[in-house]
Amino acid sequence: MYKIVVENSGTSFECGEEDTLLRAALRAGIAFPYECNVGQCGSCRFEVLEGEVRSLWAEAPALTPRDHRKGLKLGCQSRPVSDCRIKVRLDQSCLPLFQPLARDAELVSIRDVTHDMREFSFKTAEQARFAPGQYMLLHLPGVPGPRAYSMCSQPNEEGEWRFLIKRVPEGKGSEYLFDHIRPGQKITLDGPYGLAYFREDIDREIVCVAGGSGLAPLISIATAAAYHPAFKERRIRFFFGGRGPADICGDDYLRLLPGFGDRITFHSSISVPEMDPNNMWVGPVGFIHESVEGLLGDKLQDYEYYIAGPPPMLQATLQMLAIKHKVNVEHIHFDRFF
Ligand SMILES: Cc1cc2nc3c(=O)[nH]c(=O)nc-3n(C[C@H](O)[C@H](O)[C@H](O)COP(=O)(O)OP(=O)(O)OC[C@H]3O[C@@H](n4cnc5c(N)ncnc54)[C@H](O)[C@@H]3O)c2cc1C
Ligand code: FES
Repeated sequence: MYKIVVENSGTSFECGEEDTLLRAALRAGIAFPYECNVGQCGSCRFEVLEGEVRSLWAEAPALTPRDHRKGLKLGCQSRPVSDCRIKVRLDQSCLPLFQPLARDAELVSIRDVTHDMREFSFKTAEQARFAPGQYMLLHLPGVPGPRAYSMCSQPNEEGEWRFLIKRVPEGKGSEYLFDHIRPGQKITLDGPYGLAYFREDIDREIVCVAGGSGLAPLISIATAAAYHPAFKERRIRFFFGGRGPADICGDDYLRLLPGFGDRITFHSSISVPEMDPNNMWVGPVGFIHESVEGLLGDKLQDYEYYIAGPPPMLQATLQMLAIKHKVNVEHIHFDRFF
């Protein structure tokens, strides 16, 4: 174990040589800033003032040439090789709700959801403790770096964790999950992580906006809200955007919820009409943020938003909500699925 002192914060934590600075800090209840945990967003940048760290992924996209020149490192990609003194601006909004832990998990079942999306169900000896909307890191044999996947299920005492995973062409992690892992095999799950979780104390109706692989955390949030006593009378509007009709899914999960079709509604759109050569699609064509804008119109400022999906979809939705319609960013919670 190495001792990591955080400059000007009066705080320090221990980090094992197999852990990363970010995750060891969060395990110790220290609010190290982060978002993606996988080297893409740059929120976890820090400076080493004394001591030495080793980078797990020197080419991680989050660090710009300027960051490299300034000697900045990524907390999610750095392991200590000595005691260290570091400079990082702690952010109380990143304080973990549940202590992140690494644990063994056995794959129980795999189910096809669409042509390229599957539900994977894992079981751990420990309870599944997380807030709906959060994600875990999956350590997969032979795949460099863990992969982040959000739970589509609810917290439970039985230790069941369900994920909705989209196959990414040439993607090492999703390829391992789709083509190699079999029920009975074990992997390591580490978490929970993530800041775009269900806020049960906010007195507003909910709008979920998912694109592509962003379905899982929003299914979990919509399910939690559907059964929450304080949300019994509130509407939940669920938007899902895919490229073609074969990508559209999610309503199967929502149909099981009390109030579906009444206070819980599902709205989908496709963005690539060429993927519907026989003109079978009868719903809207366009980007999903356009459907949100079209349906909610001048009421856009009234809702609590949960958004997940690929970065361009996130960017377009945030631009529409926060910049064009001046929705207060405090009411927008999102995860970019890098
Ligand atoms: C917070 C979050 C939640 C997500 N939730 C979901 C979900 O619920 N469902 C879903 O389908 N997808 C989800 N994703 C996307 C998912 O994590 C993967 O990026 C996606 O499945 C592609 O992974 P891949 O291994 O197939 O592709 P690849 O192209 O092989 O890998 C891409 C991912 O691996 C990381 N990576 C690549 N090389 C390295 C390396 N050498 N060292 C360390 N890391 C590396 C990248 O940062 C990137 O995250 C989520 C992403 C994030 C950030
Ligand atoms: S949290 Fe480290 S780059 Fe995103």
